[in-house]
Amino acid sequence: MKTRVEYSSKLMSMKATLSVIGCGYLGATHAACMSSLGFSVIGVDTDPTKVAMLSRGELPFYEPGLDTLLAQEVASGRLTFTTDFASLADIDIHFICVGTPQSKDSLAADLTYVKSAVEAIAPYLKDGALVVGKSTVPVGTAQSLRERLEQLAPQADLAWNPEFLREGFAIEDTLRPNRLVVGVTNDRTEEILKDVYEPILALGTPWIRADLPTAELVKVAANSFLATKISFINAMAEVCEAAGGDVTVLAKAIGYDPRIGSRFLQAGIGFGGGCLPKDIRAFMARAQELGAEQALEFLREIDAINLRARQRVIDVVRGDLSDDLTQYKIAVLGATFKPDSDDVRDSPALDISAQLHAAGAHVVVHDPKGIEPARKRFPDLTFAESVNECVKDADLILHLTEWKEYRALDPVLIAGLVKSKLIIDGRNALDRELWRSAGWKFHALGRSD
Ligand code: UDX
Repeated sequence: MKTRVEYSSKLMSMKATLSVIGCGYLGATHAACMSSLGFSVIGVDTDPTKVAMLSRGELPFYEPGLDTLLAQEVASGRLTFTTDFASLADIDIHFICVGTPQSKDSLAADLTYVKSAVEAIAPYLKDGALVVGKSTVPVGTAQSLRERLEQLAPQADLAWNPEFLREGFAIEDTLRPNRLVVGVTNDRTEEILKDVYEPILALGTPWIRADLPTAELVKVAANSFLATKISFINAMAEVCEAAGGDVTVLAKAIGYDPRIGSRFLQAGIGFGGGCLPKDIRAFMARAQELGAEQALEFLREIDAINLRARQRVIDVVRGDLSDDLTQYKIAVLGATFKPDSDDVRDSPALDISAQLHAAGAHVVVHDPKGIEPARKRFPDLTFAESVNECVKDADLILHLTEWKEYRALDPVLIAGLVKSKLIIDGRNALDRELWRSAGWKFHALGRSD
């Protein structure tokens, strides 16, 4: 039986060839960015429609700047896409970027795609090939995949290199990340990865070598911390409402303490998206399997505070209108889970819209980029192509995703379109004084007056 091959970093510095398995948000970004660094990259995905689009240089989702980068890299000939795993036979390094969604029947992550990616590439791994996991996985997954690879393809090695990219900043976070973390089991693998990321390291990017479990944990720990920060400020918002305080002033004041920091203290309807909610749940599920559930008990509360924020905004709506919402038109500004994205996965904005619709209100939703994905998820909701159409004759405007264009709205002009000058800012992002001076009744989460 062959043993794990001794890698030569010299060989790799001659420009390794790369593959990216799974061409969704993470994979398409990684493939285009690595190609832009001069690597020859093959992206593999099992969805032929997605592969056909990407091969034409068309991005199947919205991410600022990525459409241009993708088109440019495909045109350069360095970046290609395929559904055929056999095309990977000559590739040196394979990045696994498939999704790990929440399981249908539990809090745990569904590892089907990660496991099948490893099974699918194993027959094509050449001597010395390196498999690098980037997907967010429960701690222990990398080790078990490494053991599986040992059986299927002992000539290859496996490392874990979590990504921290934010939607809306995907290129920036990939090419100029605030750190690179690699989970490796030997020096040579680390050297190969250092070679690959050499242009990024040359920018002075911190490099952290870890063992496999620590590398996996770094990702979920970072997301848990961010989720905790958001739920912390939303808990303060609840207290401010009860005590007559203003959470925006409170956040500003505590944020000046550098130990606390001002970022991720924006109170509102809470976090959503494809990462934070499912990652904290999967982390709790994994901790339970490891017998460490008590350590992460607080994450249950973080999740609960987050979901409560959605309910709190609905309570404000009922307080402003009536318990019976059937007579009212509510204009919702924003469907995506955050601005500069068309992602509506676990979007608080869309969840609130759907709940108000289910309560009998006539809900009309606008979003600059997310209407089509939102319509797919909630076909019963009404969508408007423009803000003016959305707010026309509305009894209430609900601002739920802080797109730049909503912050730029002129309250005087909008006043001429609505039935009642009533607005609730679910993101604490609008200029309250500006709206009030135009005669609007303005409410926001965590601000009592
Ligand atoms: C997150 C992590 O930031 C990123 O490092 C990881 O790789 C993937 O998950 P992302 O899902 O793109 O990135 O969104 P992020 O910018 O973290 O925002 C998450 C949610 O929190 C959004 O719904 C946002 O509206 C909300 N949020 C963020 C707040 O409610 N308040 C804040 O102060 C910040």
